[in-house]
Amino acid sequence: MSQSTIESILQEERLFSPSESFSETAHIKSLEDYQRLAERAKADPEKFWAELAQQELHWFQKWDTVLDWQPPFAKWFVNGKLNISYNCLDRHLTTWRKNKAAIIWEGEPGDSRTITYAQLHREVCQFANTLKQLGVKKGDRVGVYMPMIPEAAIAMLACARIGAPHSVVFGGFSAEALRDRLIDAEAKVVITADGGWRKDAIVALKPQVDKALADGAVPSVENVVVVKRTAQDIHMQPGRDHWWHDLQQDASPDCPAEPMDSEDTLFILYTSGSTGKPKGVVHTTGGYNLYTHITTKWIFDLQDTDVYWCTADVGWITGHSYIVYGPLSNGATTLMYEGAPRKSNPGCFWDVVEKYGVTIFYTAPTAIRAFIKMGDHLPKARDLSSLRLLGTVGEPINPEAWMWYHKVIGGERCPIVDTWWQTETGGVMITPLPGATSTKPGSATFPFPGIIADVVNLDGNPVGENEGGYLVVRHPWPSMLRTVYGNPERFRRTYWEHIPPKDGKYLYFAGDGARKDKDGYFWIMGRVDDVLNVSGHRLGTMEVESALVSHPAVAEAAVVGKPDDIKGEEVVAFITLEGNYEPGDELAKELKQHVVKEIGAIARPGEIRFSEALPKTRSGKIMRRLLRSLAAGEEVSGDTSTLEDKSVLDKLRGEG
Ligand code: PRX
Repeated sequence: MSQSTIESILQEERLFSPSESFSETAHIKSLEDYQRLAERAKADPEKFWAELAQQELHWFQKWDTVLDWQPPFAKWFVNGKLNISYNCLDRHLTTWRKNKAAIIWEGEPGDSRTITYAQLHREVCQFANTLKQLGVKKGDRVGVYMPMIPEAAIAMLACARIGAPHSVVFGGFSAEALRDRLIDAEAKVVITADGGWRKDAIVALKPQVDKALADGAVPSVENVVVVKRTAQDIHMQPGRDHWWHDLQQDASPDCPAEPMDSEDTLFILYTSGSTGKPKGVVHTTGGYNLYTHITTKWIFDLQDTDVYWCTADVGWITGHSYIVYGPLSNGATTLMYEGAPRKSNPGCFWDVVEKYGVTIFYTAPTAIRAFIKMGDHLPKARDLSSLRLLGTVGEPINPEAWMWYHKVIGGERCPIVDTWWQTETGGVMITPLPGATSTKPGSATFPFPGIIADVVNLDGNPVGENEGGYLVVRHPWPSMLRTVYGNPERFRRTYWEHIPPKDGKYLYFAGDGARKDKDGYFWIMGRVDDVLNVSGHRLGTMEVESALVSHPAVAEAAVVGKPDDIKGEEVVAFITLEGNYEPGDELAKELKQHVVKEIGAIARPGEIRFSEALPKTRSGKIMRRLLRSLAAGEEVSGDTSTLEDKSVLDKLRGEG
């Protein structure tokens, strides 16, 4: 976060209370209601979650024990049997929702589709049978590498229906990144499309899959299913590759949902950490279903008449929890949009709101900042009066962007829910409840009922009012990650031992800095580790550095984030070259492209700075703090006494 943002947040005193008319019909109607729930949950968390699980979900078999907590390993609803695809589909078919729109899809260019619950159920059952025919069995992992089309949700629900954990890889990741994830997950099948639309162009996905699988690089993959979306020529490898529509044509629509154990893996989703390769975050069935269901219902105050739109991609956790599972489990209408604002169509988001009468809109601060720059005339030229609730996620929102969102998009009538959470938490953890919580621009406000969050120092002791510290969670919650796929030690180390457990009490370490103000409001300050947040996407500095050093010209690389008005942070790479290479614009361009090839466009460095040496401590550690200051154009302050060669700093500043 930039210094000016921090300062404006520290001075933020404005308070926005929910309107009476909003609170009146809301699920949670007042601060007292919220406090009662939170207190009840704190006093007896297991009873609280058990009651909700009983009320809100369908179980084939009830659990024996609500929580089995062997720190840091948790099991929720032990021996309970359910299926999330059943909860998202079948149970709505016996109600009036059978013919309600489950998914409204707005595609590009000009395509659209509305799928009712009955139709979605049929397609999911067919695709579940298709997967079975391809030999996919309960427990087998399925890779999903898709554009934003309904088939992405259908594929996920079909996997869930037969108990095959899915691992969705964002369609913007490169073949190399896809390959690493498929290898780690040992995927048996990959589901993809020939291509998708991205900013007026076709992004070819199937050729990336071919590249990822080339030379038998992922031996576990036996079959590839391809949705025909963009219809350009692609190579289909006989025996391995199949068209989705061919397989679906012959598949029976009869496929009962497999009773899954509450703790059976539902999906693996890779996310960046501060060390090594991305981690496979494991989420299981029962706790995840319950938590995404109830958070969607209360935080977005879902009503049956709502048209709910979350602008994320299904490749991220937000897409999993708040486009697919949470909304569908509630029987809501969820909108999926394939497009993105771009020069040729900067008002497209507002067109979609107007066209479908969107009532709940959930997006990222980076998008809001980009809209501010595009100008108020775009939203003002559309009818946005259907909107009644706004949300943000992915990074801290600066008060200016919050106010613009409130005024220009929300017409000063829509509550804003600033939701803090992570891939690992499965669902939203700190957030306003829109009918209950008075909001302060830039604050995610209070923990969701049942979540015991705190701000502590490295000894695990709470810090004082308005003092910065580490954001932690003190008690397990239903949708917490269960482990890192194939690496329980990494799970333990990264999340539960960063702050050493005391007297058997474990704290979940989120990796974010935060403070609590005098009223107990949480203010999230951003990552405290070597993880960047670029346009709401999480990137490990190590990941980008490994990509850079895999280029023959690069001897050493250090990557830091530089504050950026729109993206939040931008990647800046400091590079030392191998002896026979000369720095220059051409090489900088080539290195940026190399990162795109290794990871994807989201990791493209905004700036490459060549240097003869990098600032290091006497023990050889790169001093990123100094590089961050340099990248931001700030004076290098603080302690530089451990810097081994002080002349390096002058050289980096261009004074050497
Ligand atoms: O730093 C926090 C930031 O995003 C990180 C989680 O990233 P990811 O796992 O990709 O999930 C993003 C979507 C849930 C967090 O550690 N973050 C997320 N939401 C907020 C946020 N920072 C501040 N305010 C938020 N509302």
